[in-house]
Amino acid sequence: MDKIAALQKLNEQMLSCQKCQLRQSCQRVVPGAGNPQANIMFIGEAPGKKEDELGVPFVGAAGKFLDEMLASINLKREDVYIANVCKCRPPQNRDPLPEEIETCWPWLEKQINLINPKLIITLGRHSLGRFVPHLKISEAHGQVFRRTMPNIGQRYFFALYHPAAALYNGSMRQTLLADFQKIPQALKKIEA
Ligand code: URA
Repeated sequence: MDKIAALQKLNEQMLSCQKCQLRQSCQRVVPGAGNPQANIMFIGEAPGKKEDELGVPFVGAAGKFLDEMLASINLKREDVYIANVCKCRPPQNRDPLPEEIETCWPWLEKQINLINPKLIITLGRHSLGRFVPHLKISEAHGQVFRRTMPNIGQRYFFALYHPAAALYNGSMRQTLLADFQKIPQALKKIEA
């Protein structure tokens, strides 16, 4: 089976997942979207209201900001892959619970192995924390980390603030915009 067919099959399996309580309160599972051949994979936290309505990640206000930042480095969302740590919206957009993150984790491992991105960009502290624990996002943002993890092997991570958190916070927004500009160079370094 080729990569695209395998990813499609995985998406279908995610759509029928009932492994945690989130599926009972959300409207839709939001598996992920983008280019299966992408070098860069963005990983956010969990779908919000708009994503839950449409079944697509990052389509609300934070998603518009993400699109703007992608454009600032000459990328479109069709060039990258976008997914979340949790595939279902937590009620009232509360933080996902540790057990919800763990239950959903094997889906993300499978996505990462299929897409096999050169660089994983974590959006926000929940995403960073699942890959590179014990780091403060205020210290880790804008930096590349190399880690070897069970099931997904050696991976490169780049930490960013979450676009939703930075949207209405002037200084965090400027930091996020500046960190974003470092992405092409970070990718080049990994590829070298
Ligand atoms: N915030 C996230 O972390 N993910 C989305 O898909 C939307 C908003």
